[in-house]
Amino acid sequence: PVPVWLDCDPGHDDTFAILMAAYHPGIRLLNISTVHGNASLDKTTNNALSILTAISKHKDVTVYPGHAHALQRAPIHAPTEIHGESGLDGTDLLPKPQSAADRSVSAVDAMAKALQATEPGTAWLVATGGLTNVGDLFIKYPELASHIKGFSIMGGAIGEGFTPAVLGKVDGVERIGNYTPWAEFNVLIDPEAAASLFENPVLAAKTTLIPLDLTHLVLATPEVQETILYGPNGGEKTGRGKTDLRQMLVELLMFFAGTYRDAFGIVEGPPLHDPLAVAAALTGTQYEIPFYDFDPKTAAGDRRPERFEVKVITEGSLDDALHRGAQTGRTVAKLLEPGQPGVRIPRGLDIALFWKVIEECTQRADEA
Ligand code: BDR
Ligand code: CA
Repeated sequence: PVPVWLDCDPGHDDTFAILMAAYHPGIRLLNISTVHGNASLDKTTNNALSILTAISKHKDVTVYPGHAHALQRAPIHAPTEIHGESGLDGTDLLPKPQSAADRSVSAVDAMAKALQATEPGTAWLVATGGLTNVGDLFIKYPELASHIKGFSIMGGAIGEGFTPAVLGKVDGVERIGNYTPWAEFNVLIDPEAAASLFENPVLAAKTTLIPLDLTHLVLATPEVQETILYGPNGGEKTGRGKTDLRQMLVELLMFFAGTYRDAFGIVEGPPLHDPLAVAAALTGTQYEIPFYDFDPKTAAGDRRPERFEVKVITEGSLDDALHRGAQTGRTVAKLLEPGQPGVRIPRGLDIALFWKVIEECTQRADEA
């Protein structure tokens, strides 16, 4: 299995990233670090511990709390309208943590040690929250960029050339970002950290970016929710989940569905952003969930994988971005000549297979 370190900020969709990282047979979850983002660091840490308890992994997986805010900016937390007050609202079934976070070493040091202990060219680092911990990791341990096999980030919004997420309009112009008209949340809350990752050429060539353009193709529709609730064989439709875990997962999805409907007018179901970054770590293995790396419209006949140069706009404050049109936190992607090393930004994936894998991981968690 692929050794994976998950850096996250749970978070409704992070919950599914943890579930997948913990139960996919092609993944060996090294451990988890938490970061500021969907809520304060204390809350995201507590949520990670509760999720591990809910999926019976609290004895196997350690949680290391990382940075509580960007190194150069004040903390920004997701609006409570998206993930609720706790960062993980919507269910009473989330258990109290049955393990404690490890605060004896810093999350960045713990990450470095775990990754350094893996065979060179085998491990993946997956980031599904603000990019402060991972940014700091490669500043303190630059040699890790050549040591790891891959790095995936759920973050960014590309827009042009992609199938942009449908998030409504601002002043008549389609918005591509979910937090500001231009910026996606994980990149926006620490744009300097994000920029430092994409500016590192060794790392960029190993990076898979999972932007909103992609995640908004993967909506947890009522059918998806029903499969998670009752299991793949349907079961008796009692209105109650086959197990408490399934009931809890669907309550979380329903809350997330409600916030996406109210905040963005997305009625089909919420995008399940973060587990797609975990799925990327399966690239090249027998468990690969195919991602499509070419534009079916312009690349007729040419299926060489696309690579991009990614820049992050760091000028401006959140206030500028929200009220004065600044593009702070925007990810700008430039398509490179075929064969040039750069960031991989998939344009699509095998969505049915992705949901099947989520269901299989849920089943394994159920049986644990
Ligand atoms: C990202 O921000 C958070 O709200 C989600 O957990 C996801 O990681 C989407 O922009
Ligand atoms: Ca997240």
